[in-house]
Amino acid sequence: MKILLTGAAGFIGFHLAKKLLEENIQIYAIDNLNDYYDVRIKKQRIKILRKLAKKKKTLFKFYKFDLSKKKNFKKLERIKFNIIVNLAAQAGVRYSLINPHSYIDSNILGFLNILELARKKKKTTLIYASTSSVYGGSTAMPFNERNTAVHPLQLYAATKRSNELMAHSYSYLYGINTIGLRFFTVYGPWSRPDMSLYTFAKNIMQNRPIKIFNKGDHIRDFTYVDDITFSIFRLIKNNKFKRYKFNKTINTSNPSSSSAPFEIYNIGNNKPTKLMYYINLIEKGLGKKAIKKYVSFQKGDIKNTHANVYKLIKKIKYKPSTSIELGVKSFCEWFLDHYKKFK
Ligand SMILES: NC(=O)c1ccc[n+]([C@@H]2O[C@H](COP(=O)([O-])OP(=O)(O)OC[C@H]3O[C@@H](n4cnc5c(N)ncnc54)[C@H](O)[C@@H]3O)[C@@H](O)[C@H]2O)c1
Repeated sequence: MKILLTGAAGFIGFHLAKKLLEENIQIYAIDNLNDYYDVRIKKQRIKILRKLAKKKKTLFKFYKFDLSKKKNFKKLERIKFNIIVNLAAQAGVRYSLINPHSYIDSNILGFLNILELARKKKKTTLIYASTSSVYGGSTAMPFNERNTAVHPLQLYAATKRSNELMAHSYSYLYGINTIGLRFFTVYGPWSRPDMSLYTFAKNIMQNRPIKIFNKGDHIRDFTYVDDITFSIFRLIKNNKFKRYKFNKTINTSNPSSSSAPFEIYNIGNNKPTKLMYYINLIEKGLGKKAIKKYVSFQKGDIKNTHANVYKLIKKIKYKPSTSIELGVKSFCEWFLDHYKKFK
């Protein structure tokens, strides 16, 4: 099996590539190594993956290129692969209020180029990252995939929901098997430096205050990164490699029951955690107390998240296996070591 993995130098892409290489799955990896955060971390991840591939004697070919540039795709059309896993994106909720164009470039133009690639490659399945942010301010918890999710609270969520709609149209028109995964706050070692876990840990170590939005009144369904990679691996293993036939009897009013080969799954922990408890675990893991600065609710933020993961359980027998206590502990162990090298 050969996989085209985009965003391979990113946090989740790195962990997924590691899991796939450990399972001897060959990878063509793509990333533009942009400087949204410290590029040294991205380069370090690629270095680790190259080393692992060498040890496992498995193919890991890295291409540095930008998905939003259509002309780059000529190169990829010549390569043979069965699955595309698209994790490359401009991530981050708050940054979409600062640099909206980068979201359109990577998440809309880049995603269209990926869909076009899938269209040209017969029998290729497309698995792509979406987000719990598509549920916006919905209070219908736990969030269920049947929620229409049409009230995004920032452009990041709007681009990710657009990806799902774009994928549906390509599944319907060209029979491409597409699987969208709504990730719920993913965390673990090698986490993104702009995410709360990393920024809290860094500020605590530097004796700087941590900003606690909405006075800490947030609940998050935190998902340990290994539960994400396990799910993607299972979905890849379960996949039927075929191009579906055009079916004009589609029920367009309810895409989840349509006959287009299109699916969306939540991947969460299904056990929401209070923000203050989470901060407490970070303090414990680092062996240091935080200086807490309570601030008001941030525009574009989502107050609470909670995933209904029944659909994924049914599909792949998904069972989140890492508790928040163990997950934060393993992040802190990694962080203390990593912090010495990257501060
Ligand atoms: N981490 C989370 O909690 C979380 C939650 C929900 C959804 N997601 C989604 O999961 C995916 C992976 O997230 P992550 O946390 O690993 O983020 P990340 O920023 O660490 O990884 C994304 C990678 O994509 C690359 N990239 C961005 N634009 C590109 C482009 N135009 N061409 C080529 N490469 C490009 C970046 O350089 C980066 O290495 C993203 O699609 C993100 O939106 C993440």
